[in-house]
Amino acid sequence: MNYNLKSHWEKIYDEKNEDEVSWFQKETNESLKMIQNAGIENPKIIDVGSGRSKLLKHLIEIGYNHLTYLDISESALEKSKKFLGEQSNKVRWISEDILSFKTDEKFDIWHDRAVFHFLNEENLIRKYIDIVEKNISENGHLIIGTFSENGPLKCSGLDVKRYSEKVIEKIFNRSFKLIDSFYYDHVTPFNTTQNFLFSHFIKK
Ligand SMILES: C[S@@+](CC[C@H](N)C(=O)[O-])C[C@H]1O[C@@H](n2cnc3c(N)ncnc32)[C@H](O)[C@@H]1O
Repeated sequence: MNYNLKSHWEKIYDEKNEDEVSWFQKETNESLKMIQNAGIENPKIIDVGSGRSKLLKHLIEIGYNHLTYLDISESALEKSKKFLGEQSNKVRWISEDILSFKTDEKFDIWHDRAVFHFLNEENLIRKYIDIVEKNISENGHLIIGTFSENGPLKCSGLDVKRYSEKVIEKIFNRSFKLIDSFYYDHVTPFNTTQNFLFSHFIKK
């Protein structure tokens, strides 16, 4: 576990309300659409770096029930659990650095919005690739939202890497085929926009 990174995120979730962070979304429509487009019946889904996202709640409302939450911040996890109330027992809860995540479980859908783009060293990116290759099932789906080339250079005070479709396709090319991608402007609670690239891969 990277303790500096963990304390950075703990501080944010301890001190800020859910709608006081730039990545806050009331609706998670882009992610929901891609997860539904995967067309898998009863998929095992993990939301990596879920933070206080409402995605799992929206997935439960639609009827998905094999759900895993993962985030480096225990504070975000506790607040998300509380937010889900009784429905929280439909979710497996993990507080962990994704780069230390070890499980024999394989997921049919791996969702990551605004987490992968914090990995700004080649060895960290390679580690992430190894983890998704190991933990996504055969023909499973990898859905990643990053800042685009026109997006911000930083998020929550940390440097991020920005991606074009071509570059992200190449990064995951060893084991994943890009089947869809799109750009969209996320409007932050501060009324600024952040251009995201969403990429949808399938395991080869
Ligand atoms: C920009 S926020 C996005 C949160 C959420 N995905 C959303 O769309 O609302 C990034 C999240 O990733 C988590 N995170 C950052 N680095 C991580 C890591 N190495 N492992 C697991 N979680 C991490 C943070 O705690 C934070 O909740």
